[in-house]
Amino acid sequence: MASTNSPNSSASADVPAPYGGGPTQPPAGATGPKPAKVRIHHLQQAKRDGTKFAMLTAYEQYTAEIFDAAGIEVLLVGDSASNNVFGNETSLPVTVDELLPLCRAVSRSAKRALVVADLPFGSYEVSAEQAVATGVRFLKEGLAHAVKIEGGRFYAPTVQAMVQAGIPVMAHIGFTPQSEHALSGYRVQGRGDDARRLIDDAVALAEAGAFCVLMEMVPAETAAAVDAAVAVPTVGIGAGKETTGQVLVWQDMAGLRGGRMAKFVKQYADLRNTLLEAATAYGDDVRSGQFPGPEHAF
Ligand code: KIV
Repeated sequence: MASTNSPNSSASADVPAPYGGGPTQPPAGATGPKPAKVRIHHLQQAKRDGTKFAMLTAYEQYTAEIFDAAGIEVLLVGDSASNNVFGNETSLPVTVDELLPLCRAVSRSAKRALVVADLPFGSYEVSAEQAVATGVRFLKEGLAHAVKIEGGRFYAPTVQAMVQAGIPVMAHIGFTPQSEHALSGYRVQGRGDDARRLIDDAVALAEAGAFCVLMEMVPAETAAAVDAAVAVPTVGIGAGKETTGQVLVWQDMAGLRGGRMAKFVKQYADLRNTLLEAATAYGDDVRSGQFPGPEHAF
């Protein structure tokens, strides 16, 4: 609501704030009793019960509100913001200072979901101390509930240090986009004999205290073996159906991004064309004088 106390405001109390501001109402049909917050132990229980949970990326207020209202259990403020928000070609250029405000917006807007933040490339590799310091920033300034880092068993001591400092860590193995150049591009990881490497990575990271292991672009059979080897829940993206949870980048899931989609993406909407049609219609209406109509004028 617009404030009637503002010295410059002539708006009456029932005029909504013109440009948004603060949390908005959940979408129609999504209201109901206040749901319990998703906690790490709920994900662990899902693994024990053999039930599934859903995770989506989110980078700002409205998608966080909508996905939260839709019951998505985990929201990931991914470093994929680099190539889905900031216009970069890869996830490498995005910085801590760029991701933190996005994370804060998502955390403030989600009432129920567990919010996990990616530590961007260069913000945790140097030492366990660097990782702890960056993780603290995401929990303190970004209001995240947990963080995610990429890499195998080499990072087990880092995970241990972070967990000891009170920072819950999700481990990301398999194809790790921050290592795109080292891995010679987008390639499936853990095929054939290489499956053993991923299983050992997952076991080491879980033993170090990671509360969940995410696998990207891993053969379904390898992902199932990794899932069976660890007691913690697993999440897959292009890793078959045997993981406890699944994650997609929301712009892929909702069809906002154009271009070729990875094999593992399923599109549940065509937002790109919906927005294109809406913006085209708006532009046409403005140019032809159809908008604003009398009903939009004061
Ligand atoms: O940043 C991201 O979106 C991710 C997902 C691909 C899991 O890490």
